[in-house]
Amino acid sequence: MAQVVRAALVQATWTGDTESMIAKHEEHARRAAAQGAKIIGFQEVFNAPYFCQVQEPEHYRWAEPVPDGPTVRRMQELARETGMVIVVPVFEKESEGFYYNTAAVIDADGSYLGKYRKHHIPQVKGFWEKYYFRPGNLGWPVFDTAVGRVGVYICYDRHFPEGWRQLGLAGAQLVYNPSATSRGLSAYLWQLEQPASAVANEYFVAAINRVGQEEYGDNDFYGTSYFVDPRGQFVGEGRRGRQRQGGGTPRPRPRLRPDQGGPRPVGLLPRPPPRRLRRARTAVTDPTPLHSRHRTVLPDWLALYYDRPIELTHGEGRHVWDAEGNRYLDFFGGILTTMTAHALPEVTKAVSEQAGRIIHSSTLYLNRPMIELAERIAALSGIPDARVFFTTSGTEANDTALLLATAYRRSNQILAMRNSYHGRSFSTVGITGNRGWSPTSLSPLQTYYVHGAVRTRGPFAHLDDAAFTAAAVADLEDVLGQARGGVAALIAEPVQGVGGFTSPPDGLYGAFREVLNRHGILWISDEVQTGWGRTGDNFWGWQAHAQNGPPDMLTFAKGIGNGMSIGGVVARAEVMNCLDSNSISTFGGSPVTMAAGLANLAYLLDHDLQGNARRVGGLLLERLRALAAASPAVRDVRGRGLMAGLELTEPGTDRADPQAAAAVLEAARAGGLLIGKGGGHDTSVLRIAPPLSLTVAEAEEGAEILGQALRSIE
Ligand SMILES: Cc1ncc(COP(=O)(O)O)c(C=O)c1O
Repeated sequence: MAQVVRAALVQATWTGDTESMIAKHEEHARRAAAQGAKIIGFQEVFNAPYFCQVQEPEHYRWAEPVPDGPTVRRMQELARETGMVIVVPVFEKESEGFYYNTAAVIDADGSYLGKYRKHHIPQVKGFWEKYYFRPGNLGWPVFDTAVGRVGVYICYDRHFPEGWRQLGLAGAQLVYNPSATSRGLSAYLWQLEQPASAVANEYFVAAINRVGQEEYGDNDFYGTSYFVDPRGQFVGEGRRGRQRQGGGTPRPRPRLRPDQGGPRPVGLLPRPPPRRLRRARTAVTDPTPLHSRHRTVLPDWLALYYDRPIELTHGEGRHVWDAEGNRYLDFFGGILTTMTAHALPEVTKAVSEQAGRIIHSSTLYLNRPMIELAERIAALSGIPDARVFFTTSGTEANDTALLLATAYRRSNQILAMRNSYHGRSFSTVGITGNRGWSPTSLSPLQTYYVHGAVRTRGPFAHLDDAAFTAAAVADLEDVLGQARGGVAALIAEPVQGVGGFTSPPDGLYGAFREVLNRHGILWISDEVQTGWGRTGDNFWGWQAHAQNGPPDMLTFAKGIGNGMSIGGVVARAEVMNCLDSNSISTFGGSPVTMAAGLANLAYLLDHDLQGNARRVGGLLLERLRALAAASPAVRDVRGRGLMAGLELTEPGTDRADPQAAAAVLEAARAGGLLIGKGGGHDTSVLRIAPPLSLTVAEAEEGAEILGQALRSIE
């Protein structure tokens, strides 16, 4: 086996427009591939002029999403065509007001591996970068590519040793340093810093500079790109020579011709020793054996999605990858739990820093992150004199709320909504109004089920909102007439999750509250799915029913930890403190999960993800309604914010069609989209609940895939 990897880089004069600039790079890449290159990298913001020589808003036009923008997509095609790994530096637009100087890394089969965002952003004459870019926030990732472990460090970053070091510690074998640097001191340092970093960290560096003068200023980009090896030696294709520059001392260096259409430099790099690769692409895994092991050792009732179940290996933003190397747009977030984004650097950092200090202490000791998160949640809850108790799941949160309510009211009678789901424990299945999720009728509680949570089905569906609410209130009064003495609490999901994203008219639970107040019955709002702004209009689901004040208790879980197991109850102090014996939670409120929750919540609030859920969710719902209008299988589109449901029925009837829902789920997966399903006694509702940072482009893309999936079952 050959012991070398042929690597290439491109330095190119700006052509004057993006299309011809990209075309030029494609041509160079093909030529490099023909010479045997297996990896290639381009200069900083390669598809645009170096616009940072001026500070003008018009230059935001060069920005595009990564990886979903046109340039990265096109480079994925190029990678597939040439079989090369490609490092693609572009101006990235994440969302309005969030722009980065970024390089995407694409594997040799065209799959997108991830991106690096430049950390060190200059703001000096000719390099007014702070005007455009935020500092990078993705750390220093190293990508397992088909040719080895590749990192990126962009331009000005090179003056700062810590990133070089991080890349070395993370096992980088080759680091691309796409740049735009002008004559002067820079040209002197150009000879020192990258070679020194290559030596210090034992990897190769590909330094790439832009070439010539461009239209937006007098920077004189001097080209002279090169590869340097781990011993600090310049390696190239034999185009070495001596370079004269601005009065400096001539030094041995590779003289790579400034781009005038000549062949690209191709360096010979020793093939890196094989490593254990993190990515699935290079170790494609057939899920069948794992599926059979799952079936052998795990309970039969632990249902898996898809005929050929998926093993998810990693994620980024709103995307996940499976062990076969397929990439999906994730519109279900592991059951509404990846709330902000996959691999959100802020959360990852908080978790790893906390884990480095202490992972566990229990509730027997003071726990700073737990207290901080409790303070924040109490303040956000809307419940006066709020106390917070942390658990490890939504089930346990509801179980705790039931314990509190029954102890406080000295009654085991509970009101729950038809079609509800509140968890999988013995107490919570006893209040689940959905036989599909309630495996026993034995229960420590006596439960009465109330109408009202399903607007479009049931005996009141034909009524208008006001009459529907009045009928449900009358039903509640009637049910209370059957109960023996004091009922402890009503528990309700403002938008039913497992039940298929159904909800009552706004204000219904507020109307119930009047009746409950008369009887002293507590109101528990199960916000496990609806909390944290998911519904867009409100931070909590109960706020759509707030005319008679907040609930006595709310329960939360899922999204707050972004995947770390956090659940909890917020209750008025009087209710929370009613237990007269000790209670602990060994794992509830563990420092690592609390650190994740704090970082996740801060990100959510700082980036107004509730507002994003309202805006992007509104657009997504519009798209879904348009799809429904064209699809005879869709009976109803409902939801709010980023919580949308499509109920499927046999065309022309009102009969639920779980087979159609399963078929659409499969077809969406085949198209690269993960969604969920749910629904009362049958599973005929498609559930859509992406991370709250969903972009407009992703919403459009997901709707497009879903449209195709719906058409495929017609
Ligand atoms: C509304 C609601 N409550 C409670 C739960 C139970 O949460 P967990 O699965 O974390 O125990 C769920 C889970 O889906 C839920 O949707």
